[in-house]
Amino acid sequence: MHSDPAPAETTRDKPANADDRVLIFDTTLRDGEQAPGFSMSRTQKLRMAQALADLGVDILEAGFPQASADDFASVKAIAATLRGPRICGLARCQQPDIESVARAIEPAQKGRIHVFLATSPLHREFKLQMSRQQVIDTAVAAVRRARSLCEDVEFSAEDAMRTEPDFLAEVFSAVIEAGAGTVNVPDTVGYTTPVEIAERFTWLRAHVRGADKVVFSAHCHDDLGMAVANSLAAISAGARQVECTINGIGERAGNAALEELVMALRVRSDRFPGLHAGIRSQRLHATARLLAQITGQPIARNKAIIGDNAFAHESGIHQHGMLKHRGTYEIMHAEDVGVSKSQLVLGKHSGRHALRERLSALGHDLDDAALDKVFTRFKALADKKREVFDADIEAMAVGRDPEAAGPWQLSHLHATSHIGSSASASVRLTHEDGRVVSEAAIGDGPVDAVLRAVTRAVGHDFSVDEFHIRALSEGGDAQGQAAIRVIHEGRELRGQSVSTDIVEAAANAILEIANRIEHLHAETPVSTTAIAG
Ligand code: KIV
Ligand code: ZN
Repeated sequence: MHSDPAPAETTRDKPANADDRVLIFDTTLRDGEQAPGFSMSRTQKLRMAQALADLGVDILEAGFPQASADDFASVKAIAATLRGPRICGLARCQQPDIESVARAIEPAQKGRIHVFLATSPLHREFKLQMSRQQVIDTAVAAVRRARSLCEDVEFSAEDAMRTEPDFLAEVFSAVIEAGAGTVNVPDTVGYTTPVEIAERFTWLRAHVRGADKVVFSAHCHDDLGMAVANSLAAISAGARQVECTINGIGERAGNAALEELVMALRVRSDRFPGLHAGIRSQRLHATARLLAQITGQPIARNKAIIGDNAFAHESGIHQHGMLKHRGTYEIMHAEDVGVSKSQLVLGKHSGRHALRERLSALGHDLDDAALDKVFTRFKALADKKREVFDADIEAMAVGRDPEAAGPWQLSHLHATSHIGSSASASVRLTHEDGRVVSEAAIGDGPVDAVLRAVTRAVGHDFSVDEFHIRALSEGGDAQGQAAIRVIHEGRELRGQSVSTDIVEAAANAILEIANRIEHLHAETPVSTTAIAG
């Protein structure tokens, strides 16, 4: 089978193989989480998974169970607790991977096994050392095995956009015959363009045997900044599933951003007639901010849809136009994505009720017990700083990751800095086994000194790979958020903490990492496996 891709269909041509729903396949916890700086603990993944379910994603890719014992446990925990989305796990075309996914998603109400194999000439020759026929045979065997364990199977042709179209059509025809219900076209290295991907989808839908029985899916990476545009072009040409992540996190430059895709489909519904996604868009802002809080990776101010500037109109000309007619400079309303219009700032006289209202406006509906805890923290903070902003409240609502709590606690900290000479810090730490350790160090500034003192005191071997301090809100009394990333025995560990005192925030952030290491050593060792983006 070989013919040149036909020109793209216009958006008016209704695809033959699907209805009007564009399925949102969220891979924040798999493709997103595997990017440096975004690793999450099991508790954090569960919390994020619940937020994604509340948002209304159709399919939630919870992880890659064969990658590590921890990944397996996270997928299983999500499958056991979450209701709503279909829970999916990733597998290479290998029996142990496929069986591992089947076991992990077993408690789910609805599950999916997602198998992938590279198909492009580069990958076939240099990575897999497989002929075309071997690739087809391996993919078919994997899909058959997966289908014997789960009725919903997706097949992804890794590096599909650099694969010969006729060969890709052959692979897809074969896996559909073997039982795949979704065929995914990843632009693994973010290489394609909107016109090219639209042409490819149109051509594939015309040439793949059984195309009318399956859902075609797009999975776009953002290396050239076109992941969202490419995904939308694929939808125009018949894709009825898009794979994406919150805030566009993911391998290298990331994946298509869920919030941008969803709002583009809605705001430009004239270009996508009749199509809709089942996402509760008013939850977009809260979900995006939750991810930023959990990972300690801030959202750029100018980020589309969810950045702080996305709905700010500072210039006089814009404000003048907005006052005459909102539509002059606004294509969607802040409320549509859940940005609360009120800029209410709380202070020490604010009560429990006001705090509950604000938390709820920010997307955190807490039960009474949780509210009590946040209220206590709120009062303590309001005593230290005049105004308590949304970011402060969000940090309190998210709280500390329980998996980074104990056994070490900071019980004393003293730091000094001197112009023209080294700074010094001394700490006293207590361990839950009764040990009390005191250490002191000098460094290039009090933060460096305290990091050295804590590292010495806990006695673990790690060096700081990334360290950020940023103000959480406005004003000279703003809280500082310290975020630290270390690589320990080949795995990424992150710690973060918030305080009005940045030296204390740094000490607690590094202590979170020490605590994670203690927890890890208490568990069974895990193996790390290289996986696709
Ligand atoms: O980018 C990619 O190719 C992937 C696949 C595993 C779907 O993430
Ligand atoms: Zn990917």
